Amino acid sequence: MAIQRIAVLTSGGDSPGMNAAIRAVVRTGLARGLEVYGVRHGYQGLVDGEFIPMDSVSVSDMIQRGGTGLFTARSKDFMTEEGFHRALMMLESFKIDGLIVIGGDGSLRGALDLAKNGIAVAGLPGTIDNDLAYTDYTIGFDTAVNTAVSAIGNLRDTSSAHGMVTIVELMGRHCGDIALFAGIASGGDIIVVPEKEYDMDDICRQVVEGHNAGKLHCLIIVAEGAPFSCAEIREAIQERTGMESRITVLGHVQRGGSPSAFDRLLASRLGAYGVDALAEGKKAIAVGIRNNEIFDMDLAEALEMKRPERTELIRLGEILR
Ligand code: F6P
Repeated sequence: MAIQRIAVLTSGGDSPGMNAAIRAVVRTGLARGLEVYGVRHGYQGLVDGEFIPMDSVSVSDMIQRGGTGLFTARSKDFMTEEGFHRALMMLESFKIDGLIVIGGDGSLRGALDLAKNGIAVAGLPGTIDNDLAYTDYTIGFDTAVNTAVSAIGNLRDTSSAHGMVTIVELMGRHCGDIALFAGIASGGDIIVVPEKEYDMDDICRQVVEGHNAGKLHCLIIVAEGAPFSCAEIREAIQERTGMESRITVLGHVQRGGSPSAFDRLLASRLGAYGVDALAEGKKAIAVGIRNNEIFDMDLAEALEMKRPERTELIRLGEILR
């Protein structure tokens, strides 16, 4: 039987472009003659029955906004047997035929659990971390990288003015992509990511080499999941070279802000595709982008995939510094 009513939620850490994805889901659903509900506060809203009917106007003036108009949460209730059961009951009582989940790894795993209990779900990659292996890009990553590049540009100025070592910590959980992409794009001197092993002596030597070569600044870009913390790097530099450093933790600044054009377009394409796929009867899928094509694949398989090696980019960062 053809689906009649779908719902959409955003879950986990918000990411710029989530609103563009919600908008695309709602408007594509309406264009297909479906009823569309928004679920507020992610899986917590599913447990609590926070379903709101969406119309075209409810998603206007939204494409350019960061955050998520449906709000988000990291729901503990949904992880319990009782909460999960309540979520299933809510989906049934609101007669939802298909659910679109926009979120990162944990959120898509929640979607898979729902799928295993008979709910038709389409997972859309929404996280700044870019840590979902099945897709080239996640919604929000590009904006976060641009935010980081802009901040690192400011730090470069003051680093050069004082001849000071600047250590910047960027987000990404266990994934180094934000640090790697932003580090290369902002001409970082040393990029430290979880995907590589490092020797602290090498890091300190490179700082001295840069200084001796006449560089005024020294920018060390560190992913939050990297083998050395910013504090450890600062201490080692101080101890082994006598040079002073300052640490900037960019933090949640990276999660907000108006989404880049790339993220708006990506989110719009993914959102529309997710609705089309559910309408075609697909049941447990992850929607992503590969080689600029939007595609879907089995959700369980998508979550099993290993992230690609970043050898080429890591090497590039080392050569261009
Ligand atoms: O997954 C997005 C992310 O911003 C990660 O980069 C970071 O490790 C984490 O969320 C921070 O989570 P919270 O906002 O709950 O502290």
